[in-house]
Amino acid sequence: MKRVLSGIRANSDLTLGNYLGALKPWVELQGRAETDEVEYLFFVPNLHSLSDRVNPAELRGRTLSNVALYIAAGLDPAKVTLYVQSQVPANTELSWIFNNYVTIGELSRMTQYKEKLTKRGPEGQLASIFNYPILMAADILLYSADEVPVGDDQRQHVELARDIATRFNNLYGPIFTLPKATHPKSGARVMNLQDPTSKMSKSDEDASGNVMLTDTAEVMRHKITRAVTDSKNNVKAGKAQPAITNLLEIFSSITGRSITSLEQDYVGKGYGDFKSDLAEAVVTHLEPIQRRHQELISNHTELLAILDDGRQKASTIAEEKLSQVKQTLGLL
Ligand code: AQP
Repeated sequence: MKRVLSGIRANSDLTLGNYLGALKPWVELQGRAETDEVEYLFFVPNLHSLSDRVNPAELRGRTLSNVALYIAAGLDPAKVTLYVQSQVPANTELSWIFNNYVTIGELSRMTQYKEKLTKRGPEGQLASIFNYPILMAADILLYSADEVPVGDDQRQHVELARDIATRFNNLYGPIFTLPKATHPKSGARVMNLQDPTSKMSKSDEDASGNVMLTDTAEVMRHKITRAVTDSKNNVKAGKAQPAITNLLEIFSSITGRSITSLEQDYVGKGYGDFKSDLAEAVVTHLEPIQRRHQELISNHTELLAILDDGRQKASTIAEEKLSQVKQTLGLL
C-alpha cells in the first residue's frame, strides 16, 4: 500500500498559493484512491504554527477552519485521513530523535530558514524556524509516506527528510520509506501580486499582494485588478515579464487551460481585460468552496468527530513506527 501525506500550517488564513500549490493538487490526487492502492493522510501542522505568535483562540479556530477548508476544497473524510499534528505526540518524540541525525550545517543551508531569518527581527529568529525541517521529517517518515505533494518551496525540506531516512537506514537497516516530493504541473510557485519576485506567503504582514481564500469577492477583484504588471502591455509569458507570467500561471492553474491558449485569447488586448477576466475566474472558482467552508465551520461537532477518527488512524500508524525506532535505538 502506497501512502501520500501533506499538510499546511495553521498560522494564518490560507492564500491562493496554498490552494493552487497544495490543496487543489491534493484533491486531484484523491481521485486515484478509487483506482490505485493508495492511502492519503492530510494534517494540520499546528505545532509548526507556534513559530508565529498566533493567539491561542485564533490558532484553535484556524486549525478547525483549515480542516473545513480541506473538506470544502474537495477532500472527502471517507476517503482520506484528516488529523491534527499536536494530537499525535509520536511526531514530536521522533523529531527529538532525528535531531541526532542532522547537522547544524545542513539546517543552516535551508533556503526557507535563510529567507525567514532575513524577514524577522532578532526576537523572531526562533530555534523552531531552524529546527522546522526536523519536525517535518518526522511528520513524513513516521507514516512511511512515499509521496509528499507540496509546492516548490518545500522541495528542499522533503529532500532533507529523504537524507535523514537514508542515513538512519544505513546505520540500522531498512526502517524508513524514502519519501519523494511531488509538485503540481502549474501553480507550484504562485508569486506575490505586488512583487512577482517573491512567493505569495500567508504570513506576509502586507496582504495586498496575497489573495486569501477567505477574502470577499470584492477584495479578490480589487487585489487582482491592481496586481503589478510589466512594462510591455502584451499578455505573454516569459522570463523578462515575471508579473504577467505569474498571472497567466494562476489563470492556467485555475481553469486548466494552457498558457499558450490563454495568450492567444488576449492578442491585441491589454492587461486590463486580462486581469478582470482572471479576477472573475478566481472568484467563480472559489465561491462554492467558500460557501461550503462557511457551512462546515458552523458545526464544530462534525469537524471534531472527523478529527477524532483521523487521530485514531494516524496514531495507530505512528505508534507502530515509533516503537520500532525506539527498539532499534535501545530506548526503553
Ligand atoms: N506561493 C505558493 N505557491 C505554491 N505553493 C505554495 N505553498 C505555499 N506557498 C505557496 C504550498 O502550500 C503548502 C503550505 O505549507 P506551509 O504552510 O507548511 O508552509 P509554507 O510553504 O511556508 O507556506 P507559506 O504560505 O509561505 O507559509 P508561511 O508564510 O506561513 O511560511 C506547502 O505545500 C507549500 O509548498
